[in-house]
Amino acid sequence: MAGRIPREFIDQLLSRIDVVDVINGRVPLKKAGREYQACCPFHNEKTPSFTVSPAKQFFHCFGCGMHGSAITFLMEYEHLEYVEAIEALARTLGVEVPREHAGRGEPRKKTDASLYGLMEAVAQHYRTQLGQAANAMAYIRQRGLSPEVVQQYGIGYAADEWERLIPLFGRDYGQQKLLACGLQIENDSGRIYDRFRDRLMFPIRDRRGRVIGFGGRVLGEGSPKYLNSPETEIFHKGTELYGLYEARNNTRKLERFLVVEGYMDVVALAQYGITYAVATMGTATTSDHISQLFKYGVNQVVFCFDGDRAGEEAAWKALKNLLPAVNDEREIRFQFLPTGEDPDSLVRKLDKAGYEAELKKALPFSRFFIRGIKEGLGLKAEATLHLIEDSARFAAEASALLDQMPESLLKKSLLQEIQRLGQVTTAAPVQDTYSSGHFERPWTRTYGRRYVEKSQGAPGRPGDHEVKKTPVRYAMTLLLHSPELAGSIPNPEKLLEWEMPGLILLYKLVEIIEENPHIHAAGLLERFRGTEYENSLLKLMNWQPKEADAQMLQQEFQDCFRQIKRQARRKALEDLLYKEQTQGLNKQEKHDLLSLLGDIHDTAE
Ligand code: UTP
Ligand code: MN
Repeated sequence: MAGRIPREFIDQLLSRIDVVDVINGRVPLKKAGREYQACCPFHNEKTPSFTVSPAKQFFHCFGCGMHGSAITFLMEYEHLEYVEAIEALARTLGVEVPREHAGRGEPRKKTDASLYGLMEAVAQHYRTQLGQAANAMAYIRQRGLSPEVVQQYGIGYAADEWERLIPLFGRDYGQQKLLACGLQIENDSGRIYDRFRDRLMFPIRDRRGRVIGFGGRVLGEGSPKYLNSPETEIFHKGTELYGLYEARNNTRKLERFLVVEGYMDVVALAQYGITYAVATMGTATTSDHISQLFKYGVNQVVFCFDGDRAGEEAAWKALKNLLPAVNDEREIRFQFLPTGEDPDSLVRKLDKAGYEAELKKALPFSRFFIRGIKEGLGLKAEATLHLIEDSARFAAEASALLDQMPESLLKKSLLQEIQRLGQVTTAAPVQDTYSSGHFERPWTRTYGRRYVEKSQGAPGRPGDHEVKKTPVRYAMTLLLHSPELAGSIPNPEKLLEWEMPGLILLYKLVEIIEENPHIHAAGLLERFRGTEYENSLLKLMNWQPKEADAQMLQQEFQDCFRQIKRQARRKALEDLLYKEQTQGLNKQEKHDLLSLLGDIHDTAE
């Protein structure tokens, strides 16, 4: 693994590239006043509401709410990850992306890059073999796989031979590598032979498209039905999802993931146009799988399970691993299949539209949550709780699970529902996130990576929560729009002495601007990517300053500071007065109080 990309490099990169060029090369833009416009590439529209600001180096769609820097644009438009987007931008400038050294501790073990080369070469070999194997082709036809989907998923065939790979790849890669990749096995008597023989081969790719493992199916009956690559240096079953790379590659606008169990399910679904399915390859859904899924800003996930007892248990395990990832933006559902069906068989019966209609009907997270707790206690899903003991167990189980969820409206509603159902008050320490007077919470907590703010959703969603325009927040908005205003603050360190929500963030902004006087809004925001501040800053960025004229902006900014100062002093004064009445003041405090009283008097309007 390479080290971190230095901060300064990202700053420089963003100051050297122009978001207008980056976007214009992919979505032709038209000049409109000081900005550029186009029909939004992220949603369907006939009149352009997608705008790009050269001054802020930022794009924003008034239709779907998507917005961000050049980096975000590439991540969304080309389905790249953060680092990949930076690499792509660096390439356009012809510069290398530098890496910091891994830092403290053990130097990280470097993955042997040639293992990927070997895996790719072998996958290629299996693909070629497929066309020449009549039995394998017959099996493919029998399973109803189209040539297109076979090609898309790179499906191949491993010949029915014990020593096929060594003569082909031994010279270039060496036997040790074949063993290290799990392509060959050494038995107790030291004999070395090919792991996969006479099997249909499904290459497993990582998110960058590199082949890291295989699943091999017997042609017809036989045991084991599927043989998988073992855990190797490059393949970790508990982290990887089969079909993830293909899903991202074959779906223009990836909005949803469908998580299924089997290779064949993913491939059959794709053949029928459901290109967003991924499979867990026979293991339980781990929290690593879940973080893989939510890396891409996709907020709808349907987990598909068998309708039997085992399926339900697997689903419950998945739900438990999901808890830390649940938030109000994400729509998580559980699909339970009719007995005897799997997604492969079902999509062939229902077709794309029919299958997607089923997905819409899948059980929402909240319903499965409540049902699952009841069932865990041996109660029927629709049962009401008559016994106090049942209520108590229900409430205890529910709060243990709720504790693992980050604050959200959904969590709050679940708690209410649980209290209603259990008819007991639980002790779950759910904070009243959205109560008024609580400054930062509603808009600082976010787990999504996407620069999307749902501006036209149903009322009451947290994204829509009206953020009150306080002087601190307005000052930040002004700074984002015109970073040069930071220069007009005489003693920014003072900000840290005052106790008021948001001042630390305001100070951070000022500090960054002082170090990088030419930084623009997108560069500033980039500094906060993935932090608790990211979403707040995006919201602030969407406010428009009242004034456009530079001098007036300066005025407004100064006004903000006067107000902040006044508020801070008033608060300090209130605190001191309160203390005076309750505990009394020491000498210093008395002195402070007197000087504050004088100040307030001076600044009173
Ligand atoms: P299933 O037995 O449900 O198979 O296993 P399937 O996907 O429906 O396959 P077909 O339709 O019979 O060809 C689901 C998944 O469990 C893992 C594989 O990842 C498989 O896709 N599995 C199953 C194994 O790893 N080994 C096995 O022997 C069986
Ligand atoms: Mn099947």
